[in-house]
Amino acid sequence: MRERMVVGNWKMHGSLVGNKSLLDGILTGLAGVDSVHCAVCIPFPYLFQAQFTLQGTELVWGAQNVSQHEKGAYTGEVSAAMLRDMGCSITLVGHSERRALYGEDDAAVAEKFIAAQQGGLIPILCVGETLEEREKNITAEVVERQLQAVVERAGLEGFSRCVIAYEPVWAIGTGKTATPQQAQEVHAYIRALFAEHNSKLGESIMILYGGSVKAANAAELFSMPDIDGGLIGGASLDANEFVSICKAAKRKAA
Ligand code: PGA
Repeated sequence: MRERMVVGNWKMHGSLVGNKSLLDGILTGLAGVDSVHCAVCIPFPYLFQAQFTLQGTELVWGAQNVSQHEKGAYTGEVSAAMLRDMGCSITLVGHSERRALYGEDDAAVAEKFIAAQQGGLIPILCVGETLEEREKNITAEVVERQLQAVVERAGLEGFSRCVIAYEPVWAIGTGKTATPQQAQEVHAYIRALFAEHNSKLGESIMILYGGSVKAANAAELFSMPDIDGGLIGGASLDANEFVSICKAAKRKAA
């Protein structure tokens, strides 16, 4: 049975004081919530604070982006090794905001995926279609292209050490969640793509859903057979909301 995971993506939000109360609130709320991996992806400057506050707890922390380079003259960039140094175990790669606003194409995302793994991090690879692409009925094509670019560079083996997040761009930060059925359809498609080549990988790969997940809709989304948890933006900035979402990801006893 696949494990469950809920990851908060704080985006460019936070402050020393605000983070402290948010993290304390999450830790208090999560006490006793086992069987779900919970994590926060926070802005670079606060990784130090996460390391200080979260070390020895169940809450995992990571970054929202990573350089594809190992080190060198790359002003403004942060390497996977640096993130490891700050105690990170995960990083997002290819979030749609990085793709759309910072020109990260499929090839760059694939490089980042590899750099993350080589640096000892688990990449959370984000894929998803825009509204225009959905309306043109090319969702499957877009998602397959985004995954294929990484398969070409990392091989299928690379996918045994990663998490995939399906995030329809039209659902991110818009309040428009994909329906559980719409999300399930794409999750099942992604799983089948891997299963076609390697049935064990298809069965085991963890696929999170992201896009306007809230405490109010999480349980229904997570009840779908191919949705293994969530990548949570806005709602991860509120400790109670985030904790409720983590609790909703607990697998019901069969
Ligand atoms: P949202 O963001 O939950 O605010 O829609 C999700 C994300 O960008 O990862």
